[in-house]
Amino acid sequence: MVECKSVKLCVLVVVVVLQLALTAHCAVPSNVSVAKRPIFMEYIGASGLPVKFEVPVNKDVDFYYILSFAVDASANGTYNNGNFVEMWSSDLTRDEVAKVKEENTNVKVLMSLCGWSIYNISGLDQPLFWYDPKDKEEWLDNAYSSIMGLVKHYNLDGIDVDYENFERRNNFSSTMGELLERLRKEEQVKVVTIAPFNWMITSYIELFQAFNESIDYVNYQFYADAVPNATEYLATYNQKARIFGVEKMIPSYEINGRGVQGQAWWDSLALIHTQNSIPGLMIWSADESAPLHYYYEIQAQELLANGTYS
Ligand SMILES: *[C@@H]1O[C@H](CO)[C@@H](O)[C@H](O)[C@H]1NC(C)=O
Ligand SMILES: *[C@@H]1O[C@H](CO)[C@@H](O)[C@H](O)[C@H]1NC(C)=O
Ligand SMILES: *[C@@H]1O[C@H](CO)[C@@H](O)[C@H](O)[C@H]1NC(C)=O
Ligand SMILES: *[C@@H]1O[C@H](CO)[C@@H](O)[C@H](O)[C@H]1NC(C)=O
Ligand SMILES: *[C@@H]1O[C@H](CO)[C@@H](O)[C@H](O)[C@H]1NC(C)=O
Ligand SMILES: *[C@@H]1O[C@H](CO)[C@@H](O)[C@H](O)[C@H]1NC(C)=O
Ligand SMILES: *[C@@H]1O[C@H](CO)[C@@H](O)[C@H](O)[C@H]1NC(C)=O
Repeated sequence: MVECKSVKLCVLVVVVVLQLALTAHCAVPSNVSVAKRPIFMEYIGASGLPVKFEVPVNKDVDFYYILSFAVDASANGTYNNGNFVEMWSSDLTRDEVAKVKEENTNVKVLMSLCGWSIYNISGLDQPLFWYDPKDKEEWLDNAYSSIMGLVKHYNLDGIDVDYENFERRNNFSSTMGELLERLRKEEQVKVVTIAPFNWMITSYIELFQAFNESIDYVNYQFYADAVPNATEYLATYNQKARIFGVEKMIPSYEINGRGVQGQAWWDSLALIHTQNSIPGLMIWSADESAPLHYYYEIQAQELLANGTYS
């Protein structure tokens, strides 16, 4: 209780307290209930090491594998004018995709566009940039048909956008947004996600603000921001949820990686859940996780399935 020395002061205090309460409430909508089944997403195939679709799948979540990556570049690193090709582990064939989807009816398979870099012909890690195409319409036609070619060949269910390197000013938002709108019209493209982190978030904010109707979830890369502890994780979550919305924000974890590790991740999620429900979780990546016997994947799915975060 607030004790007041005079009526006037009391009114003032009440107004301030109310304003604080309102500000806190408006900042991030709380108590948003997520009606859909929880989602667990995991990137796979980027390391170049042998890797299999063998993460244990919990039948009470929607499980999305994200093939990493399809790139708009040749193997030597030169850009391809919108002609995307698959660069993920050659173990992850269309037959393997068919098998994992047949064995688990709750598995969907997406592919992610771009990623950080490519090992070019000299064997060097060459960063891949978003580049503004010379001819936007031509790039869009190429991107649309090459991506749909891959979607059909591998029988995929969706697209993740993971461009990570940008020039300061660019046309990523308008070009990628139009591409996503076109892809969304395809019945087979059921899910579209984006994967920003803080350093390059401006391009994704532009994209999201103009094209959020084409974007289902935001796989925010907390690990790329290297958030060191649960308190910071919550602060980052709140800041980004204000932009992308609680319903679309997917907290994430990097196996053997940057940012919170081990128990600190569960602590972070528990802290978020004191305010909000979480539609799902994302892990980078299956390639690193086999030696841990997929401990984090199993635990994350079980927590989601138990309704711990809903
Ligand atoms: C949160 O939502 C649930 C379900 O709609 C409701 O029962 C509960 O009262 C709400 N809690 C708050 C604090 O608004
Ligand atoms: C890179 O590969 C493409 C396709 O194979 C080829 O057309 C192009 O000339 C190559 N560029 C360089 C710099 O080697
Ligand atoms: C390969 O990548 C390195 C590092 O980014 C770059 O310096 C080099 O020019 C690239 N080589 C080719 C053939 O593209
Ligand atoms: C592309 O970006 C440039 C510079 O930011 C801008 O002047 C131009 O209008 C943009 N073009 C399109 C098609 O959005
Ligand atoms: C979603 O997109 C619409 C335009 O399509 C825009 O008016 C709105 O502000 C966007 N919402 C958010 C949260 O960015
Ligand atoms: C969490 O990390 C932030 C930023 O490094 C630091 O200021 C804060 O003291 C840390 N909090 C705890 C509880 O360790
Ligand atoms: C999920 O719920 C089951 C059944 O109540 C329980 O045995 C299990 O420990 C829970 N798992 C987690 C990770 O909380």
